[in-house]
Amino acid sequence: MQSEPSTDFSHAPEGFTVGPGYGGLTRVLVTVEGAEAEIYLNGATVTRYDVGGQPVLFCSKTSKYEAGKAIRGGVPVIFPWFGPHPTDSSQPQHGLVRAADWRVDSMRRLAPDAAELTLTFESSEATLAAWPFDFGLRYTVSVGKRLEMALKVTNRSMSEIEFHEALHTYLAIGDVHKIAIAGLENCEYADKVDGGARRRLGAESLRLKGETDRVFVNTSAACRLSEPGRPDVLVSKEGSLSTVVWNPWETKAEAMSDLAGGQWPEMVCVETANALENVIAVSPGASHTMKAIIERL
Ligand code: BG6
Repeated sequence: MQSEPSTDFSHAPEGFTVGPGYGGLTRVLVTVEGAEAEIYLNGATVTRYDVGGQPVLFCSKTSKYEAGKAIRGGVPVIFPWFGPHPTDSSQPQHGLVRAADWRVDSMRRLAPDAAELTLTFESSEATLAAWPFDFGLRYTVSVGKRLEMALKVTNRSMSEIEFHEALHTYLAIGDVHKIAIAGLENCEYADKVDGGARRRLGAESLRLKGETDRVFVNTSAACRLSEPGRPDVLVSKEGSLSTVVWNPWETKAEAMSDLAGGQWPEMVCVETANALENVIAVSPGASHTMKAIIERL
């Protein structure tokens, strides 16, 4: 039997403030020495992570903030399928939890410069109707010099489960035309801009020249994002074999009401994921954890 998660936040530890954010949605503000983050319970979405007052994550100025709607930016949590549902187009894109209502499990102040928030989500009649397995998610967000996000999936059903997942990280950049992403050299990818055609990156860093939607497979490598005049950002990971790089470019971005207004050059997604053949299988009672670590160097 699970204990009821707390909804009384009046005794939150120092550094945590829980209250209404945009759209009246519940938001947890975490402030530690040198860093600050905001996490919405809607989708367990980390919407902001600033180091020294400078944003590391991108969040759209025109994002919706509505219960049941995905937030455009930050780090949406994707589970148990990535992208469109494989067989049922009536199911939501990117799974069942990125716009669901998560619960606060714990808030812990670890040190003057470190704090940790844990959110949980349990399968329900609604999720069982869409995906017929019982599961529990435990998502731990550690805020400090690095932002660490660990998604633990526990199989609470009687049979093996298979799933895809992603921590769909939107990074803040100055200009997408000027960035380079190192770490994916010689990796195979599915090019979703070309019907999923399989290709392989050469020995060079990735530079974006147009709409980009690539699922790199079989890679556990960290990615280092660099841009002239800005500090590098390192995205490292554990328990993940796919890395997705996405920018919709001008035409698609301007057609998205929650990304319009010329913001698209200021973001790139470098997503810690398990997608395509990197499916995760978990036995009854067992768990799998995937972790993304974002660090401004
Ligand atoms: C990326 C996918 O992860 O997310 C893209 O690879 C998709 O295909 C993008 O367009 C954004 O998805 P959404 O559902 O948030 O618009």
